[in-house]
Amino acid sequence: MGRAAVVVAVMAAAAACAVSGVAVGRRVSSRRKWGRVIGVLKELEEGCETQVGRLKQVVDAMAVEMHAGLASEGGSKLRMLLTFVDKLPSGFSLRREKGTYYSLDLGDSYFRILRVQLGGHGSSINAHDVERQPIPEDLMTGGSKDLFDFIALVFKQFVEKEEYGSGYPFDRGGLGFTFSFPVKQTSISSGILMKWTKGFSIGDMVGKEVVECLQEALTSKGLNIRVSVLVNDTVGTLALGHYHDPDTVAAVIIGTGTNACYMERTDAIIKCQGRLTASGSMVVNMEWGNFWSLHLPRTPYDVDLDVDSPNPGEQGFEKMISGMYLGEIVRRVILRMSIESDILKPVSSKLSLPFVLRTPLIASMHEDDSPDLTKVTRILRGTLDVPDVPIKVRKLLVNICDVVTRRAARLVAAGIVGILKKIGRDGGGGVASGRGKPKTKMRTVVAMEGDLYRDYSMFREYLNEAMIEILGEDLAQHVILKVMEDGSGIGAALLAASNSAGHDADDTLQLA
Ligand code: BGC
Repeated sequence: MGRAAVVVAVMAAAAACAVSGVAVGRRVSSRRKWGRVIGVLKELEEGCETQVGRLKQVVDAMAVEMHAGLASEGGSKLRMLLTFVDKLPSGFSLRREKGTYYSLDLGDSYFRILRVQLGGHGSSINAHDVERQPIPEDLMTGGSKDLFDFIALVFKQFVEKEEYGSGYPFDRGGLGFTFSFPVKQTSISSGILMKWTKGFSIGDMVGKEVVECLQEALTSKGLNIRVSVLVNDTVGTLALGHYHDPDTVAAVIIGTGTNACYMERTDAIIKCQGRLTASGSMVVNMEWGNFWSLHLPRTPYDVDLDVDSPNPGEQGFEKMISGMYLGEIVRRVILRMSIESDILKPVSSKLSLPFVLRTPLIASMHEDDSPDLTKVTRILRGTLDVPDVPIKVRKLLVNICDVVTRRAARLVAAGIVGILKKIGRDGGGGVASGRGKPKTKMRTVVAMEGDLYRDYSMFREYLNEAMIEILGEDLAQHVILKVMEDGSGIGAALLAASNSAGHDADDTLQLA
């Protein structure tokens, strides 16, 4: 070999070494970055840990806080609000109600009108119809008059269609109003808004009488109908649950927001100060979205989400559980991963947009059972503007959805058992309950509403699994979680019917 050839060969070998060196360097760096991503996932898993021991601590904390909230106003972050509903409809008690009853349901970005037809004597609900209208975003943060005028207008159009169209008589007896925000009720048909949740923020409304606002708007549109009951969505759901099954003792909503209510003995509601109801019981709206305990597994993502929210320090439980927030927690984790490494190539600007990843999308990613995770690919491309992500990264994203959803579902289970503990149906006889013998094996039904429980099967499975872990197989089979579709609105119409003028005095709600 001539000298020149040797030089060329040496240079080629050096170049090859350099190229392979770069490749090795890249591999090492990419392995390191992947390691960091896995580290983020591990940290998340540890932060979201909900072993049964911890869940039991949450159960105890929930029951203790329920006591504190019942003892005095402001005694707990659980508001434990009076509802003035002291009797729940049952198929039997409503047997005489006949006619068409309406309810209006305001609680998330959709406003609903429900028409419920009761058949009278012996029959049950003959039919119900629901009309849904999206609420324009500016009305959720504007002035109260605009919001209520919008509601009244949509209702007026609905009623006009009804009167002239389908031939249903428009019953002017009473209207149920489901208003799913914390309200300090002063009677079954009146109450003052304490604060907004779930992204609503209409400053001039806080402290106002809710029914007056609606009534004024209805009257101004020429609608001659009296709002006869004001209820939280949990209370409507409990009413429908009880109507179908008298063993229903509590209701839980897991949708955009989350909350629970249950039937409590009035002598346990110390802050009622001796005011008794005819039945000796009253439904209590817990407003459990605001529950807080140091036993809750909180991650830095929860802390940041809370700080950036319009209501920091509030609705802590809700921010770990409900549909408004789960997608946002997942987005924050993915964003952190994409900053720590280049798993999503250049960080897409969409990924930095708060609330861009909505919970139905994480449900869809989580439940994607296609071999190459096509739904995940579609959502990454369509929603987050991230094309072509390798399968191992897509699997990792599914993992994040799993961790966040599992924590939420298991915490709901702990919350439900907390209620059962308070009322002595958890096998332990309640917390300082004085409720007599533990009603361990009584059939106990909890009415469930909200799209997270209804439509997200992994969420449902995790919740049910945790109920068994906490209660034990034997007891858990006596606790039945029943979905009540449209319970919030139908239940309000049922309560309006049982509170309508024509109803027997015996069946109306009275506070002594
Ligand atoms: C509200 C509750 C409501 C729940 C479910 C929460 O944000 O404070 O009143 O019941 O959402 O809609």
